[in-house]
Amino acid sequence: MVTRLITVDEKNPDLSLLLPAAEALKAGGLVIFPTETVYGIGCDATLAEGAEKVYAAKGRPSDNPLIVHLSDPGDADKVAFVTPLYRRLAKAFMPGPLTVILKKRDSIPRQTTGGLDTVAVRCPSHPVANALLRLSGVPVAAPSANISGRPSATDAATALTEFDGKVDYIIAAGSSSIGLESTIVMPTGDDSLLLLRPGAVTADDLKLVCSKVEISDTVERAPDEGERPVCPGMKYRHYAPSKPFILVSGSPEDRLEYLRKASEEGAVVICYDEQAPEIRADRRIAVGAESDLSEQARRLFSALRLADRYEGDVVYANLPPRDGLGLALRNRMLRAAAHNVIDAGDALLIRQ
Ligand code: TXA
Ligand code: MG
Repeated sequence: MVTRLITVDEKNPDLSLLLPAAEALKAGGLVIFPTETVYGIGCDATLAEGAEKVYAAKGRPSDNPLIVHLSDPGDADKVAFVTPLYRRLAKAFMPGPLTVILKKRDSIPRQTTGGLDTVAVRCPSHPVANALLRLSGVPVAAPSANISGRPSATDAATALTEFDGKVDYIIAAGSSSIGLESTIVMPTGDDSLLLLRPGAVTADDLKLVCSKVEISDTVERAPDEGERPVCPGMKYRHYAPSKPFILVSGSPEDRLEYLRKASEEGAVVICYDEQAPEIRADRRIAVGAESDLSEQARRLFSALRLADRYEGDVVYANLPPRDGLGLALRNRMLRAAAHNVIDAGDALLIRQ
Protein backbone atom coordinates (compact mmCIF):
# COMPACT_ATOMS: atom_id res chain seq x y z
CA MET A 1 0.00 0.00 0.00
CA VAL A 2 1.21 3.52 -0.78
CA THR A 3 0.87 5.93 2.14
CA ARG A 4 0.21 9.51 1.07
CA LEU A 5 1.24 12.41 3.28
CA ILE A 6 -1.00 15.48 3.46
CA THR A 7 0.57 18.47 5.19
CA VAL A 8 -1.73 21.19 6.47
CA ASP A 9 -0.98 24.40 8.32
CA GLU A 10 -2.21 23.78 11.87
CA LYS A 11 -2.91 27.48 12.50
CA ASN A 12 -4.72 28.13 9.22
CA PRO A 13 -5.63 24.77 7.71
CA ASP A 14 -6.74 24.58 4.06
CA LEU A 15 -9.51 22.09 4.70
CA SER A 16 -9.97 21.18 1.03
CA LEU A 17 -6.66 19.29 1.31
CA LEU A 18 -8.43 16.85 3.64
CA LEU A 19 -11.02 15.70 1.09
CA PRO A 20 -9.08 12.68 -0.27
CA ALA A 21 -8.46 11.45 3.29
CA ALA A 22 -12.16 11.87 4.15
CA GLU A 23 -13.03 9.87 1.02
CA ALA A 24 -10.57 7.15 2.02
CA LEU A 25 -12.27 6.87 5.44
CA LYS A 26 -15.69 6.57 3.80
CA ALA A 27 -14.31 3.84 1.52
CA GLY A 28 -13.09 1.78 4.50
CA GLY A 29 -9.46 2.96 4.47
CA LEU A 30 -7.10 3.95 7.28
CA VAL A 31 -6.10 7.57 7.96
CA ILE A 32 -3.69 8.91 10.59
CA PHE A 33 -4.77 12.36 11.77
CA PRO A 34 -3.74 14.90 14.42
CA THR A 35 -5.74 15.56 17.57
CA GLU A 36 -5.02 17.87 20.49
CA THR A 37 -4.03 14.86 22.63
CA VAL A 38 -2.03 12.54 20.35
CA TYR A 39 -2.23 11.44 16.70
CA GLY A 40 -4.87 8.78 15.99
CA ILE A 41 -5.11 6.00 13.38
CA GLY A 42 -8.70 6.08 12.19
CA CYS A 43 -11.21 3.96 10.30
CA ASP A 44 -14.99 4.04 9.81
CA ALA A 45 -16.25 2.87 13.23
CA THR A 46 -19.36 1.28 11.74
CA LEU A 47 -17.33 -1.26 9.72
CA ALA A 48 -16.17 -4.45 11.43
CA GLU A 49 -13.36 -4.78 8.84
CA GLY A 50 -12.18 -1.24 9.65
CA ALA A 51 -11.45 -2.15 13.26
CA GLU A 52 -9.77 -5.38 12.15
CA LYS A 53 -7.46 -3.41 9.85
CA VAL A 54 -6.56 -1.02 12.67
CA TYR A 55 -5.78 -3.91 15.07
CA ALA A 56 -3.60 -5.50 12.38
CA ALA A 57 -1.72 -2.27 11.56
CA LYS A 58 -1.01 -1.59 15.25
CA GLY A 59 -0.35 -5.20 16.23
CA ARG A 60 -3.00 -4.56 18.90
CA PRO A 61 -4.92 -7.30 20.74
CA SER A 62 -8.50 -7.25 19.41
CA ASP A 63 -10.04 -7.28 22.92
CA ASN A 64 -8.75 -3.74 23.49
CA PRO A 65 -11.62 -1.46 22.37
CA LEU A 66 -11.26 1.62 20.17
CA ILE A 67 -12.52 5.15 20.91
CA VAL A 68 -15.18 6.46 18.50
CA HIS A 69 -14.56 10.05 17.37
CA LEU A 70 -17.38 12.42 16.36
CA SER A 71 -17.29 15.96 14.95
CA ASP A 72 -20.27 17.00 17.08
CA PRO A 73 -21.04 15.77 20.62
CA GLY A 74 -24.71 15.84 19.62
CA ASP A 75 -24.05 12.94 17.21
CA ALA A 76 -23.37 10.58 20.13
CA ASP A 77 -26.92 9.24 20.00
CA LYS A 78 -26.17 7.72 16.58
CA VAL A 79 -23.63 5.38 18.18
CA ALA A 80 -24.72 5.17 21.84
CA PHE A 81 -27.58 5.65 24.29
CA VAL A 82 -26.90 9.11 25.69
CA THR A 83 -27.78 10.12 29.24
CA PRO A 84 -28.32 13.49 30.95
CA LEU A 85 -24.88 13.14 32.59
CA TYR A 86 -23.28 12.67 29.13
CA ARG A 87 -24.99 15.87 27.97
CA ARG A 88 -23.62 17.80 30.97
CA LEU A 89 -20.10 16.46 30.36
CA ALA A 90 -20.38 17.27 26.65
CA LYS A 91 -21.50 20.81 27.36
CA ALA A 92 -18.62 21.40 29.76
CA PHE A 93 -15.73 19.59 28.05
CA MET A 94 -16.50 18.84 24.37
CA PRO A 95 -15.02 19.30 21.94
CA GLY A 96 -11.93 18.53 23.99
CA PRO A 97 -9.81 15.82 25.63
CA LEU A 98 -12.60 13.84 27.33
CA THR A 99 -13.89 10.37 26.40
CA VAL A 100 -17.15 9.04 27.86
CA ILE A 101 -18.17 5.36 27.96
CA LEU A 102 -21.84 4.75 27.07
CA LYS A 103 -24.06 1.77 26.17
CA LYS A 104 -23.50 1.18 22.46
CA ARG A 105 -26.08 1.06 19.67
CA ASP A 106 -26.09 -1.63 16.97
CA SER A 107 -24.55 0.83 14.48
CA ILE A 108 -21.20 0.11 16.14
CA PRO A 109 -19.99 -3.47 15.66
CA ARG A 110 -18.42 -5.43 18.50
CA GLN A 111 -15.12 -5.53 16.63
CA THR A 112 -14.82 -1.79 17.28
CA THR A 113 -15.58 -2.17 20.99
CA GLY A 114 -13.41 -5.20 21.64
CA GLY A 115 -16.50 -7.34 22.23
CA LEU A 116 -18.01 -4.96 24.84
CA ASP A 117 -21.58 -3.66 24.78
CA THR A 118 -20.32 -0.17 25.61
CA VAL A 119 -18.64 2.37 23.36
CA ALA A 120 -16.14 5.14 24.15
CA VAL A 121 -17.16 8.50 22.62
CA ARG A 122 -14.91 11.52 22.07
CA CYS A 123 -15.08 14.80 20.10
CA PRO A 124 -11.58 16.16 19.51
CA SER A 125 -11.12 19.94 19.51
CA HIS A 126 -8.25 19.97 16.99
CA PRO A 127 -9.54 21.90 13.95
CA VAL A 128 -8.03 19.40 11.49
CA ALA A 129 -9.52 16.39 13.30
CA ASN A 130 -12.86 18.14 13.52
CA ALA A 131 -12.87 19.02 9.80
CA LEU A 132 -11.84 15.50 8.77
CA LEU A 133 -14.68 14.02 10.86
CA ARG A 134 -17.17 16.47 9.42
CA LEU A 135 -16.07 15.84 5.82
CA SER A 136 -16.11 12.06 6.17
CA GLY A 137 -19.55 12.09 7.79
CA VAL A 138 -18.88 8.80 9.59
CA PRO A 139 -17.97 8.08 13.21
CA VAL A 140 -14.23 7.33 13.24
CA ALA A 141 -12.71 4.67 15.51
CA ALA A 142 -9.17 5.74 16.31
CA PRO A 143 -6.63 4.48 18.79
CA SER A 144 -3.35 6.31 19.29
CA ALA A 145 -1.08 6.08 16.23
CA ASN A 146 1.64 3.86 17.63
CA ILE A 147 2.59 0.23 17.29
CA SER A 148 0.96 -1.52 20.26
CA GLY A 149 3.07 -1.08 23.40
CA ARG A 150 5.13 1.87 22.10
CA PRO A 151 4.75 5.51 23.19
CA SER A 152 1.90 7.32 21.38
CA ALA A 153 2.85 9.52 18.41
CA THR A 154 2.43 13.27 18.97
CA ASP A 155 3.58 14.28 15.47
CA ALA A 156 3.21 12.95 11.94
CA ALA A 157 6.91 12.19 11.41
CA THR A 158 6.84 9.71 14.30
CA ALA A 159 3.65 8.09 13.00
CA LEU A 160 5.24 7.81 9.54
CA THR A 161 8.18 5.79 10.91
CA GLU A 162 5.75 3.13 12.21
CA PHE A 163 2.93 3.20 9.64
CA ASP A 164 4.48 3.96 6.25
CA GLY A 165 2.92 1.47 3.82
CA LYS A 166 0.23 0.40 6.33
CA VAL A 167 -2.29 3.29 6.04
CA ASP A 168 -3.80 5.25 3.13
CA TYR A 169 -3.07 8.76 4.41
CA ILE A 170 -1.13 10.52 7.13
CA ILE A 171 -2.25 14.08 7.83
CA ALA A 172 0.56 16.20 9.26
CA ALA A 173 -0.32 19.33 11.24
CA GLY A 174 2.34 20.07 13.84
CA SER A 175 2.66 18.55 17.31
CA SER A 176 -0.28 17.69 19.56
CA SER A 177 -0.73 20.54 22.04
CA ILE A 178 -1.57 18.33 25.05
CA GLY A 179 0.64 15.33 24.34
CA LEU A 180 -1.20 12.77 26.53
CA GLU A 181 -4.33 10.85 25.55
CA SER A 182 -7.82 11.94 26.60
CA THR A 183 -9.33 11.47 30.05
CA ILE A 184 -11.66 8.43 30.02
CA VAL A 185 -14.70 8.31 32.32
CA MET A 186 -17.45 5.75 32.83
CA PRO A 187 -20.74 7.00 34.30
CA THR A 188 -21.71 4.78 37.27
CA GLY A 189 -24.96 6.61 38.16
CA ASP A 190 -26.92 9.77 37.38
CA ASP A 191 -24.32 11.91 39.09
CA SER A 192 -21.26 9.70 39.54
CA LEU A 193 -18.26 8.79 37.41
CA LEU A 194 -15.40 6.35 37.49
CA LEU A 195 -12.20 7.91 36.12
CA LEU A 196 -10.51 5.16 34.11
CA ARG A 197 -7.67 7.05 32.45
CA PRO A 198 -6.50 10.47 33.68
CA GLY A 199 -5.81 13.19 31.11
CA ALA A 200 -5.97 16.93 30.62
CA VAL A 201 -9.55 17.06 31.94
CA THR A 202 -8.71 16.44 35.61
CA ALA A 203 -10.75 14.96 38.46
CA ASP A 204 -11.22 18.49 39.85
CA ASP A 205 -12.52 19.69 36.47
CA LEU A 206 -15.00 16.79 36.38
CA LYS A 207 -16.23 17.60 39.89
CA LEU A 208 -17.56 20.91 38.56
CA VAL A 209 -20.31 19.01 36.70
CA CYS A 210 -20.57 15.73 38.59
CA SER A 211 -20.66 15.45 42.39
CA LYS A 212 -19.00 12.04 42.72
CA VAL A 213 -15.79 11.26 40.83
CA GLU A 214 -14.02 8.07 41.84
CA ILE A 215 -10.52 7.38 40.53
CA SER A 216 -10.10 3.77 39.42
CA ASP A 217 -7.31 2.07 41.34
CA THR A 218 -5.90 0.75 38.03
CA VAL A 219 -4.71 4.33 37.35
CA GLU A 220 -1.80 3.61 39.69
CA ARG A 221 -1.74 -0.15 40.09
CA ALA A 222 -0.71 -2.95 37.76
CA PRO A 223 -3.67 -5.25 37.05
CA ASP A 224 -3.29 -8.74 38.53
CA GLU A 225 -2.48 -11.72 36.36
CA GLY A 226 -5.66 -12.71 34.48
CA GLU A 227 -7.61 -9.65 35.73
CA ARG A 228 -9.94 -7.99 33.20
CA PRO A 229 -9.96 -4.29 34.15
CA VAL A 230 -12.97 -2.08 33.26
CA CYS A 231 -10.66 -0.25 30.85
CA PRO A 232 -9.11 -3.19 28.95
CA GLY A 233 -6.17 -1.09 27.76
CA MET A 234 -4.87 -0.86 31.34
CA LYS A 235 -3.81 -4.48 31.28
CA TYR A 236 -1.33 -3.99 28.46
CA ARG A 237 2.13 -2.48 28.73
CA HIS A 238 2.15 0.80 26.86
CA TYR A 239 4.36 3.81 26.22
CA ALA A 240 7.50 1.83 26.95
CA PRO A 241 10.96 2.57 25.64
CA SER A 242 12.79 -0.58 24.54
CA LYS A 243 15.28 -0.16 27.40
CA PRO A 244 14.39 -0.90 31.03
CA PHE A 245 12.70 2.19 32.46
CA ILE A 246 12.69 3.01 36.19
CA LEU A 247 10.96 5.84 38.09
CA VAL A 248 12.61 7.57 41.02
CA SER A 249 10.65 8.85 44.04
CA GLY A 250 11.78 10.66 47.21
CA SER A 251 12.84 14.16 48.24
CA PRO A 252 14.01 16.56 45.48
CA GLU A 253 17.58 16.42 46.84
CA ASP A 254 17.71 12.61 46.96
CA ARG A 255 16.18 12.29 43.49
CA LEU A 256 18.70 14.72 42.03
CA GLU A 257 21.63 12.98 43.70
CA TYR A 258 20.43 9.58 42.54
CA LEU A 259 19.86 10.72 38.96
CA ARG A 260 23.23 12.51 38.85
CA LYS A 261 25.04 9.35 39.93
CA ALA A 262 23.02 7.19 37.53
CA SER A 263 24.00 9.40 34.58
CA GLU A 264 27.68 9.21 35.63
CA GLU A 265 27.35 5.44 35.60
CA GLY A 266 25.91 5.39 32.09
CA ALA A 267 22.12 5.61 32.49
CA VAL A 268 19.91 7.86 30.36
CA VAL A 269 17.98 10.37 32.53
CA ILE A 270 14.69 12.09 31.67
CA CYS A 271 14.91 15.12 33.97
CA TYR A 272 13.42 18.49 34.84
CA ASP A 273 15.10 21.61 33.42
CA GLU A 274 16.33 22.58 36.92
CA GLN A 275 18.06 19.21 37.34
CA ALA A 276 19.75 19.29 33.93
CA PRO A 277 22.97 21.14 34.91
CA GLU A 278 23.80 18.34 37.41
CA ILE A 279 23.25 15.53 34.93
CA ARG A 280 25.71 14.45 32.24
CA ALA A 281 24.89 16.41 29.09
CA ASP A 282 25.11 13.43 26.75
CA ARG A 283 22.80 11.33 28.94
CA ARG A 284 19.99 13.72 29.81
CA ILE A 285 16.67 14.59 28.18
CA ALA A 286 15.11 17.64 29.87
CA VAL A 287 11.31 17.81 29.56
CA GLY A 288 10.46 21.19 31.13
CA ALA A 289 10.43 22.91 34.50
CA GLU A 290 9.38 20.78 37.50
CA SER A 291 6.31 22.97 38.01
CA ASP A 292 5.32 22.98 34.32
CA LEU A 293 3.29 19.79 34.02
CA SER A 294 1.77 20.86 30.67
CA GLU A 295 5.20 21.14 29.07
CA GLN A 296 6.23 17.77 30.53
CA ALA A 297 3.02 16.24 29.14
CA ARG A 298 3.70 17.65 25.67
CA ARG A 299 7.22 16.23 25.67
CA LEU A 300 6.88 12.91 27.51
CA PHE A 301 6.26 10.54 24.59
CA SER A 302 8.96 12.02 22.37
CA ALA A 303 11.37 11.84 25.34
CA LEU A 304 10.58 8.14 25.83
CA ARG A 305 11.27 7.51 22.15
CA LEU A 306 14.44 9.62 22.19
CA ALA A 307 15.76 7.69 25.20
CA ASP A 308 16.02 4.61 23.00
CA ARG A 309 18.37 6.42 20.64
CA TYR A 310 20.74 7.53 23.41
CA GLU A 311 23.66 5.48 24.56
CA GLY A 312 22.99 3.85 27.94
CA ASP A 313 21.14 0.65 28.72
CA VAL A 314 18.66 1.87 31.36
CA VAL A 315 16.43 4.96 31.56
CA TYR A 316 15.47 6.83 34.76
CA ALA A 317 12.90 9.60 35.33
CA ASN A 318 11.25 11.40 38.27
CA LEU A 319 7.94 9.94 39.50
CA PRO A 320 5.41 12.77 38.89
CA PRO A 321 3.09 14.09 41.64
CA ARG A 322 -0.61 13.14 41.80
CA ASP A 323 -2.19 16.57 41.52
CA GLY A 324 -3.72 18.11 38.40
CA LEU A 325 -2.16 16.90 35.17
CA GLY A 326 0.45 15.11 37.32
CA LEU A 327 -1.89 12.12 37.70
CA ALA A 328 -1.99 11.62 33.91
CA LEU A 329 1.80 11.84 33.66
CA ARG A 330 2.14 9.49 36.61
CA ASN A 331 -0.24 6.94 35.05
CA ARG A 332 1.60 6.90 31.68
CA MET A 333 5.03 6.77 33.28
CA LEU A 334 4.09 4.02 35.76
CA ARG A 335 2.83 1.93 32.86
CA ALA A 336 5.88 2.68 30.72
CA ALA A 337 8.04 1.59 33.66
CA ALA A 338 5.93 -1.52 34.33
CA HIS A 339 5.39 -0.01 37.84
CA ASN A 340 9.09 -0.14 38.60
CA VAL A 341 9.70 2.63 41.21
CA ILE A 342 12.66 3.05 43.51
CA ASP A 343 12.99 5.36 46.50
CA ALA A 344 16.08 7.50 45.92
CA GLY A 345 16.76 7.98 49.66
CA ASP A 346 16.77 4.23 50.36
CA ALA A 347 18.79 3.47 47.25
CA LEU A 348 21.47 6.05 48.15
CA LEU A 349 21.76 4.61 51.69
CA ILE A 350 22.25 1.09 50.37
CA ARG A 351 24.96 2.29 47.99
CA GLN A 352 27.01 4.08 50.67
O1 TXA B 1 -6.74 10.97 23.21
C1 TXA B 1 -7.16 9.87 22.86
O2 TXA B 1 -8.09 9.30 23.47
C2 TXA B 1 -6.52 9.21 21.63
C3 TXA B 1 -6.80 10.07 20.42
C4 TXA B 1 -6.36 9.45 19.14
O3 TXA B 1 -8.17 10.42 20.40
N1 TXA B 1 -6.95 7.86 21.48
C5 TXA B 1 -6.54 6.86 22.32
O4 TXA B 1 -6.99 5.60 21.97
O5 TXA B 1 -5.83 7.03 23.27
P1 TXA B 1 -6.35 4.25 22.52
O6 TXA B 1 -7.00 3.19 21.72
O7 TXA B 1 -4.89 4.29 22.46
O8 TXA B 1 -6.85 4.15 23.99
C6 TXA B 1 -8.20 3.87 24.22
C7 TXA B 1 -8.41 3.36 25.61
C8 TXA B 1 -7.95 1.94 25.79
O9 TXA B 1 -7.27 1.83 27.02
C9 TXA B 1 -9.26 1.17 25.83
O10 TXA B 1 -9.16 0.02 26.61
C10 TXA B 1 -10.24 2.18 26.40
O11 TXA B 1 -9.83 3.39 25.84
N2 TXA B 1 -11.62 1.94 25.98
C11 TXA B 1 -12.13 2.08 24.74
N3 TXA B 1 -13.43 1.71 24.71
C12 TXA B 1 -13.75 1.33 25.95
C13 TXA B 1 -14.94 0.82 26.57
N4 TXA B 1 -16.04 0.63 25.87
N5 TXA B 1 -14.90 0.54 27.89
C14 TXA B 1 -13.76 0.74 28.60
N6 TXA B 1 -12.61 1.20 28.08
C15 TXA B 1 -12.59 1.48 26.78
MG1 MG C 1 -2.93 3.96 22.93
